[in-house]
Amino acid sequence: MQNVGSVYLTRKLPDPALQYLKESCALKLWNEEQTPVPRDVLLKQIDQVEGIYCTLSDKIDREIISSSPNLRVISTMSVGYDHIDVQFAREQGIKVTYTPGVLTETTADLAFTLLMSTSRRIFEANRSIYEGKWKGWAPLFMAGRDIYGAKLGIVGMGRIGQAMVRRAKGFNMKISYYSRSRKKEMEQQEGITYKPLEVLLQESDFISLHLPGNSDTYHLIDTKELALMKPTAILINTARGSVVNEKALLAALQEDRIRGAGLDVFEREPVDPKHPLLALPNVLALPHIGSASVETRFKMAMIAAEDLVKGLQGETPQYEVTES
Ligand code: DGY
Repeated sequence: MQNVGSVYLTRKLPDPALQYLKESCALKLWNEEQTPVPRDVLLKQIDQVEGIYCTLSDKIDREIISSSPNLRVISTMSVGYDHIDVQFAREQGIKVTYTPGVLTETTADLAFTLLMSTSRRIFEANRSIYEGKWKGWAPLFMAGRDIYGAKLGIVGMGRIGQAMVRRAKGFNMKISYYSRSRKKEMEQQEGITYKPLEVLLQESDFISLHLPGNSDTYHLIDTKELALMKPTAILINTARGSVVNEKALLAALQEDRIRGAGLDVFEREPVDPKHPLLALPNVLALPHIGSASVETRFKMAMIAAEDLVKGLQGETPQYEVTES
């Protein structure tokens, strides 16, 4: 393939995607897989590039976008694009591409894993063995809450919210949802019920968040919303840390105003290992691995690479962000 332009890649990718980029572009890269490129390095490296291939841990703001006068395409290996100033990029005529769809089922799998693990206290129970707390069978030792037949409230009924419905139905859960727009056809087909957020929070045993991170969803779950939840309720967040006010969540958990939380995302990532939320036995924390299956990550890496190349060739990318 001909060289379609100069590209900076902010992370070492798995090989098929990396090889494809090497063959299609004049590629410079941050040759690390585990650690993000430092901002000063990124600023220096993107000076004349036409394309940036990034991940969700790179903040692609006005300063970054403006420092590359030839920039034409930003491609992110993620469905979320809250780390990119999309509005500014589009004003400059720069295309932004992302990877929706491919990670839907993988992320819903993880959200359901968190739901099951928090309700049945899987990690507390596992740790109890190593900590010598298992003295033998006891009526309420490590007793959790039933999932089968419980009430699930899904906040955000996009692709991943819908994938949660499919999983929850297998557990005979009573499903309600809150979303910007009603999905009346889905309500009928799947037997799910739309509820205003306040009502959903009051009634649900599990609340699972599936919204993008942006100014509309910032701290959607705050002190007032947590106060509406049942003392037995569990909050699952695989969306974005910014959707939940962590200080408010910490207080609600410390004061036993809700039962637990399963968190794959945090307001600051990577989360400080000394963050007080992590010390709570009823919090199951994961390092933002919602889409982290080998199959899905390979596909995401390749889709983002192909769309970057398409954009640089002047073709329409498969997944271009069209809102800001
Ligand atoms: C995304 O792609 O935005 C997800 O959060 C990654 O797991």
